[in-house]
Amino acid sequence: MPHPTFPNLTVLDHPLIQHKISILRDRRTSTRDFKQLVNEIAMLMAFEVTKDLPVVPVDVETPLEQTRGYQVAGKKLVLVPILRAGLGMVEGIAQLIPSARVGHIGIYREHDTLTPVEYYFKIPAGGDARDFFVLDPMLATGGSAVDAVSALKKAGAQRIRFLCLVASPEGVGKLGAAHPDVPVYAAALDRALNDKGYILPGLGDAGDRLFGTR
Ligand code: PRP
Ligand code: URA
Repeated sequence: MPHPTFPNLTVLDHPLIQHKISILRDRRTSTRDFKQLVNEIAMLMAFEVTKDLPVVPVDVETPLEQTRGYQVAGKKLVLVPILRAGLGMVEGIAQLIPSARVGHIGIYREHDTLTPVEYYFKIPAGGDARDFFVLDPMLATGGSAVDAVSALKKAGAQRIRFLCLVASPEGVGKLGAAHPDVPVYAAALDRALNDKGYILPGLGDAGDRLFGTR
């Protein structure tokens, strides 16, 4: 159900997601467990986010008789992690949707100004006919997300969803204002940003915790 304050936001608060997000937030959680939990939460989220994908009927021959089955319609969907931390969400979703293609967008936040800097962009051809899932665990100021979606649209993408683990009110608002057509799915909507642009209570620096670079 859409959030009452943010029409672009759906918070996926399944009990298993809440449980896993709480372990993820814990500063004592190891890099190995962090990585596994990010993938598991992404997989659980993908199950919900894909529930309205259109299907087409197909004929299936069981060992006993012919029957009617269904397959997801259209071109293969595209997972687009925002580097680095978005990479942590790819494997979990790809286990659920093995046919998914993967594009990459490299963006980092400039340390002092928090301005996003794009350094890499590569997505599969035929973007106008595909569904894109942009992946990033953190939606903080929203700058990286807005730029990633703008870059995808410039390349022809029309159907884009944004999946994150933890969102801030500022980030959801900024993404909604810039791209009202892009639904945002989050495992949690947190309270605020601190003066360094970190989400509170958040989970710290997602990239560093995923890749052990702290
Ligand atoms: C983090 C995070 C998002 C971005 C969110 O990446 O993974 O991409 O910050 O912040 P924003 O909403 O204020 O733009 P970071 O810049 O730390 O890059 P990294 O993953 O390469 O470390
Ligand atoms: N990026 C992160 O990794 N964490 C935050 O809290 C904000 C941006």
